[in-house]
Amino acid sequence: MGSPAPQPSPSECPLCCGTGWKAVEVPGKAKRVARCDCRNEARAERLLNAARIPSRYEHCTLADFATDFSGAHRSLAAARLAAGRFVEEYPIEKTGLLVIGPVGTGKTHLAVGIIQELVRSKGVPCRFCDYRELLKEIQNSYNPTVQTTELEILRPIFEAEVLVMDELGAVKPSEWVWDTVSHILNSRYNERKTTIITTNFPNLGPGEMQSGRTSHAEASRNAARGETLGDRITERMRSRLHEMCRVVQMDGVDFRQKVQSANFR
Ligand SMILES: Nc1ncnc2c1ncn2[C@@H]1O[C@H](COP(=O)(O)OP(=O)(O)O)[C@@H](O)[C@H]1O
Ligand SMILES: [Mg+2]
Ligand SMILES: [Zn+2]
Repeated sequence: MGSPAPQPSPSECPLCCGTGWKAVEVPGKAKRVARCDCRNEARAERLLNAARIPSRYEHCTLADFATDFSGAHRSLAAARLAAGRFVEEYPIEKTGLLVIGPVGTGKTHLAVGIIQELVRSKGVPCRFCDYRELLKEIQNSYNPTVQTTELEILRPIFEAEVLVMDELGAVKPSEWVWDTVSHILNSRYNERKTTIITTNFPNLGPGEMQSGRTSHAEASRNAARGETLGDRITERMRSRLHEMCRVVQMDGVDFRQKVQSANFR
């Protein structure tokens, strides 16, 4: 994470003179006080640090998620709209998002943009988690003599109010590591905590790619790999994710290629 933007020390704040509360005028009503901007900004910076967004995605916001460049796929505009609506409706609507599409279509950018916006506009504590890193952490923390270690380290992942799990299925864990992953996802589901998931694997069941159901645009693009989301995370978990999340499909080719070819014309 970059260093947080410098905050005026509370005593320097011209709005609240260090009290943390500012006066707000509501026409026709008695004067009220509200939390001062200086405290809200400090809170947003704290939450953004705690969200652990990798530095290469720190720049990603919903505002700079482009959908209007030449060659942009229609599904990008729909995905951008769904992301905006998600932020707007949270926490009245807590259903998560399952963002599916080939590499480079902007899935991670969109997911990070959502949590930046949730933090800044609503002060919601969020957490980013890379699936590969998570599996490594589970593996490293495993110590047969100290059963609690694993859960202590994973507590923020279990407890985050909104969790982004990036690149689900990217690696295939051993059986006991998978047990922990499904424990995380299932307990978040049971506790009605919101999870935003991204994956490169087509939204099909185990073996459905081989059995000729390759009509999905994204399935045919991933056909070289020949594996589906169901193959990677089990059909049982795939169907659980459909209860936890709304599907957001992102199609098109790698963003960097799109921009390059657009610049060519
Ligand atoms: N629609 C978009 N507008 C602006 N930048 C984008 C867009 N889509 C992708 N990018 C940028 O392209 C790069 C790849 O996107 P990324 O989100 O990592 O793709 P994915 O997670 O689907 O593989 C990132 O640097 C991202 O910021
Ligand atoms: Mg990604
Ligand atoms: Zn202030």
